[in-house]
Amino acid sequence: MDKFIIPGGVRLKGEVSISGAKNAALPILAGCLLTEEPCSLRAVPDLADIRAMLEIMGELGVDTSRDDDGVLKIHVTDESHSHARYDLVRKMRASICVLGPLLAKRGYARVSMPGGCAIGARPVDLHLRGLRALGAKIELDGGDIIATRDRLQGTEIFLGGPFGSTVLGTANVMSAATLAEGTTMIESAACEPEIEDLADLLNAMGAKIRGAGTPRVTIEGVEQLSGAEHTVIPDRIEAGTFILAAAVTNGDVTLHNCRLDHLHAVVDKLRDVGVAVEKHNGTAVVASARRLCPTDVTTQPYPGFPTDLQAQLMTLLCLADGNSAITEKIFPDRFMHVAELLRMGANIRKEGPTAIVTGVRELIGAPVMASDLRASAALVVAGLVARGETEVRRVYHIDRGYEHIEKKLNQLGANIQRVAE
Ligand code: EPU
Repeated sequence: MDKFIIPGGVRLKGEVSISGAKNAALPILAGCLLTEEPCSLRAVPDLADIRAMLEIMGELGVDTSRDDDGVLKIHVTDESHSHARYDLVRKMRASICVLGPLLAKRGYARVSMPGGCAIGARPVDLHLRGLRALGAKIELDGGDIIATRDRLQGTEIFLGGPFGSTVLGTANVMSAATLAEGTTMIESAACEPEIEDLADLLNAMGAKIRGAGTPRVTIEGVEQLSGAEHTVIPDRIEAGTFILAAAVTNGDVTLHNCRLDHLHAVVDKLRDVGVAVEKHNGTAVVASARRLCPTDVTTQPYPGFPTDLQAQLMTLLCLADGNSAITEKIFPDRFMHVAELLRMGANIRKEGPTAIVTGVRELIGAPVMASDLRASAALVVAGLVARGETEVRRVYHIDRGYEHIEKKLNQLGANIQRVAE
């Protein structure tokens, strides 16, 4: 297990390039199960979660390889194994997104039910409801979901749940419906850019999907899909994390390959705080004021403020001049970073799904523990601005979702060392 040693007090300065989006690439990889023809994917980041997905795909009869240009080739060569085992699924919850494609293409899928994780219970009832509505028979056996069908039938499906829609549930149902007989209409579909990106790949494969990126997605089923080429969208959460790291260190950073149009809520909120994020010749330039103003924020489904940047924003607000309220509406228990930030001298009080953050003059370096991907990112950002040295333990969490994060931050003037624990 590795840890990061982070000397604090740096001011990030320079240029950084954003990688392809993990959360777009994962359902896109699963979507390639819908065809026996080869697919070529550009900008798939090299991350632990992607490697875990490729391992699962390998067990499902898929050949995968990266060429010298980093293009990932995906080719289904054997459709006889349709079991995503617990040993692999428990490593990464997003493996649930093979369920819809396997069911639609092979008529049978056995996928271990993903467990909860540090950010909450994370049920998959909406995924199953959507697939049942398409005519799948779904049973549970030994902790596995077993889904079977003859041919899926298009229908109208409502995917809203107690916390809004579901991103991977929408990906699963939309992917499965591409091969259904007739037309499917998903109401209350997730509107995240990652869903639109998946639809772009599936349409390039010959699917007929309209409205992806809006709450109503219509899918006209086709007999079969073919191979395709696709470039994954830039990672809006990685970009947001770098923007917040630049802001908290009072830095001056230019981001390449950054889609600011996917970050409206974040840019808007940062403007309230005193951080300017401007578009400049296809790049995003971040500059922040010396004094940061407090603000109130509620996480919401896209296009609202993303839950995946809540922890990193909290680090920034720890240093604002006054009281901020952060309410988590997607994963109400996603506050594992609070206790660690308190160890660094933050002043945060939890009240149900809300954290009241009272700004302090400085954070102080300390040994802290990463608990999940985004919480770890928040602690790294805190380490950069803290007085003294911060040790972030268990950085395997951060390696799941950030490509070479310490190298990218070091390129901007940080001096993070990765050390084996
Ligand atoms: N929910 C249900 N039933 C379901 C599915 C979800 O009640 O069947 C609830 C969840 O418990 C949660 C809400 O609906 O309260 C939204 O969950 P969603 O299904 O949208 O989450 P997800 O698709 O499993 C993706 C991202 C997460 C991100 C969330 C929300 C991937 C691989 N994961 O998860 O990313 O936080 O959407 O935007 O795309 C991360 O990258 O760190 C991460 C956790």
